[in-house]
Amino acid sequence: MQKNFWAQPDLAADQFLYSRKGPWPQPSPSYPMEQAPEILNIPPVETMLWTQAIGSRYFKTETFYTGAAAANAVAGSQLSIPPDDEFVRMMTNSVYARFLKNVHGDTWASSFSAMGLIADATLPETFAAPVTCVFSRDAVSNQFSCAYIEVPGGPYLLKVQPGDPAWNLAKAYALQGASYIGLFVVHPALHFPMDTINAITKTSVPRNHPLFQLLYPHCSYALAVNNAVLQTDDGVLSSNPQGTWFDPLTADGLVIKRLFGAGYAGLKDPPDLYPQYNYMKPWMDTSVNYGKCLALYFEPFLDFCTTVADEILSASPNDTYVERWANYISANLHGFPDGVEIFKPAESGKPGVLAQALAIYMWDVTVSHAADHYSYTHDITPQTPGPAGTSLAAWKFLRLRIPQPQNASDGANVKRVGDICHADDLYRAEMAQEMFFKSATLPPNLVDTTYAFTSPLLLQAQQKFHADLKLVSAKVAVIMPHFMPLVAKDPSDPAQYSQTISASIQY
Ligand SMILES: [Fe+2]
Repeated sequence: MQKNFWAQPDLAADQFLYSRKGPWPQPSPSYPMEQAPEILNIPPVETMLWTQAIGSRYFKTETFYTGAAAANAVAGSQLSIPPDDEFVRMMTNSVYARFLKNVHGDTWASSFSAMGLIADATLPETFAAPVTCVFSRDAVSNQFSCAYIEVPGGPYLLKVQPGDPAWNLAKAYALQGASYIGLFVVHPALHFPMDTINAITKTSVPRNHPLFQLLYPHCSYALAVNNAVLQTDDGVLSSNPQGTWFDPLTADGLVIKRLFGAGYAGLKDPPDLYPQYNYMKPWMDTSVNYGKCLALYFEPFLDFCTTVADEILSASPNDTYVERWANYISANLHGFPDGVEIFKPAESGKPGVLAQALAIYMWDVTVSHAADHYSYTHDITPQTPGPAGTSLAAWKFLRLRIPQPQNASDGANVKRVGDICHADDLYRAEMAQEMFFKSATLPPNLVDTTYAFTSPLLLQAQQKFHADLKLVSAKVAVIMPHFMPLVAKDPSDPAQYSQTISASIQY
């Protein structure tokens, strides 16, 4: 047998995971022009694994968590509307920092204008509005403060300022916008485009190819998870939200899916706020803490993937499986390099394209994805847990029961969450948080993941990757002590382990 058996162009079908009859991307059945391709035919073995490891957790939560959810909902309804310091913390030093854009000088804005896509189709007696939150940032301390919130109220754009009677209501609308744009514009762009790579890797790359060995451990669960999100009516995108016990959203699933398009096809007006998805340009803005942590974590991935890419390309310079893999993916996914570009070597400080494409996939489905769940659960909440011992979901404001302010004196009576949210809405939010929002990492997590490399050099690179991740995690803990942990303090405690960075998209 030849040394690099994996590079032979005509390997038989039995050398592939699913005998070359595996999953493959198709246009999204709901919105084919706007959304990432979808994997509609999930290999039965992957569905079984999902049911056993993830579906069973949903059923247990639906059965046993209801009392705890209700207790949290009652406590949540009595919370005050977030005070300004808590509001600014959540909007600027959490997953919500993804929306912050520098407008000019010290002025920053988080625009939730895409909420206009669903504002006309909310459930009866619930409301949504495309507000924009404007911040100023102190040049010395780097601290943000909220300047005003722009609310489309009546014929004018209303500028609600701190101290106005409408201020509390405007803050709730800003937090609602952040929830929806986070959950349904930004987060889906971390989930669904990656399915194309997941499926094409499983189907078209032989099992003993180093590219397959590198990505396969990061492809578990995701196809079935995403298929359940997109195609199950009994999930969080239900066509009959009130018919479920847990759907806390303000519109039905098909309406909510309009937002996915803003994160993939982009929105034309204004074009810079919601650009078209580009695989090679993932968000890691180092001018804010959250982006800085994501950027720091990217480095070990790039380093590891550079070693793997060099090993592949030195043994097989125009590797046929890499070429076909890139051509198949780029035909489906905005921004992915094609079978020519994928071979571009590193030059003038820029990494090689194959290494970069591999690193973006691995980093996206692990750190970038999991940290969002963790932050949404643990940062978008008061810092004291609810009576169930878990983070309260009330400040996510997933349903608002009074319309946005029409003038600055509206909403003077809005003091507590219960003044604008129904208890049943909050109960649903608690259920959804326990089922879908919180991280529930399955072993092995990212840093415990091993690869089926049979090359000694790559096995060594794996050791270095794990050590480098740990070094980064220590740096990140200084910048954002509340960033998702890489390693559990007590790895034998399943509750702690479930809060560490996962190896794949599994929630
Ligand atoms: Fe997710």
